[in-house]
Amino acid sequence: MNRLKIMETALRDGHQSLIATRLTTDEILPILEVMDEANYHAMEVWGGATFDACLRFLNEDPWERLREIRKRVKKTKLQMLLRGQNLLGYKHYPDDIVERFIQKSIENGIDIIRVFDALNDTRNLETSVKTIKKEKAHCQCAISYTTSKVHTLDYYINLVNQMESIGADSICIKDMAGILTPYSTYELINEIKKNTKLPIELHTHATSGIASMTYMKAVEAGVDIIDTAISPFSGGTSQPPTESLAIALSESNRDPKLNIKALNEIASYFKPIKEKYLENGVLNPKVLNTEPKTLSYKVPGGMLSNLLSQLKIQNAEDKYEEVLAEVPRVREDLGFPPLVTPLSQMVGTQAVFNILTGERYKMVPKEIKDYVKGLYGKSPAPIKEEIKEKIIGKGEVITIRPADLLEPGFEDVKKEIQGLYKTEEDILSFALFPQVAKDFLENKKDDICNIEVIM
Ligand code: CO
Repeated sequence: MNRLKIMETALRDGHQSLIATRLTTDEILPILEVMDEANYHAMEVWGGATFDACLRFLNEDPWERLREIRKRVKKTKLQMLLRGQNLLGYKHYPDDIVERFIQKSIENGIDIIRVFDALNDTRNLETSVKTIKKEKAHCQCAISYTTSKVHTLDYYINLVNQMESIGADSICIKDMAGILTPYSTYELINEIKKNTKLPIELHTHATSGIASMTYMKAVEAGVDIIDTAISPFSGGTSQPPTESLAIALSESNRDPKLNIKALNEIASYFKPIKEKYLENGVLNPKVLNTEPKTLSYKVPGGMLSNLLSQLKIQNAEDKYEEVLAEVPRVREDLGFPPLVTPLSQMVGTQAVFNILTGERYKMVPKEIKDYVKGLYGKSPAPIKEEIKEKIIGKGEVITIRPADLLEPGFEDVKKEIQGLYKTEEDILSFALFPQVAKDFLENKKDDICNIEVIM
């Protein structure tokens, strides 16, 4: 049997899940040489919320972080998470921006790009996949895993085949809500393995308390890679602990052969950093709790807390159970979208509106209207006719790839921040997060001026 490979998530999903993506570059850099000796298959270090958080909260250049990491990690592959045509933002970007962003990510040090679409509409992955292949990086297509009457084994096998046909080098089953159970995981991976030779990676979250069991059954079914987080950034809404899995599975015929001495050193390094975030309140101990309810609601932990805070603001906390019961109904009306960014927020808000106004779809957010018009892509199942009519009346529904409606955008963005950018990376930061990137670039410019004055 081949060695099981381990992907370390601490520097992306681990701290995104537990401390709102607040690890600074200074906290990351000193331990990288040791991490490079751990015998990981890869380290996830970029993408997801890391880019936005660097600019918005840390006053750091995310591109600079990536380059500094790359300088110190010489052997281990660096991985990032990308939302397909949404890149790292929340809307579709024109193809020319998608192409340039991916090209620069790879040029600055990324080896593996995990790309997914919230609706599993592979048309929204095409431009990303093509560019990743052209730039000779590893292209991993990720399935946004969810459950519904249309999300059958056949559905997933068909999706894997589509991903393979557009050029995926490997497949990830991305269980962002942590709802995969051990035996259904075994069946899913077993069936996928029969239908493709591509390596399979599994990504789940420890929220409900069964993730390690799920990984173990996945290993028995022949999964190639699993995602774990070094212990201080593991558990709760993050991934299961790297060291524990490495030791437990070393007794199997799939021994991941990680360097336990290096893992212990990495854990000792991050422990006091975690303590600091616990003390200053950035790490809310609640996210470390075990929440088996996730398995019955099938709703990501983050979405539950969002719903509760939305209701608190409206002074309607007593409606929580009603709203929770409304979520699966809204999902069904809308063709069972997976509850992943940005759909999780959209479905949650619609459920709150439906309950608080006392009339379903009396109030509808613009994003839901756009979704019904097909502007996010194709829904997994058709949207119910009467619901469609209620939301957009006789409004037009598009069936083409949404990004085909967008004109090239890079040159316009460039004009817009003339005088503020130094590099193409600066322009791309602005394309994704205009306001925060502008503030960041203005600050940077001021810093440079100050230095000149002193000199
Ligand atoms: Co995740």
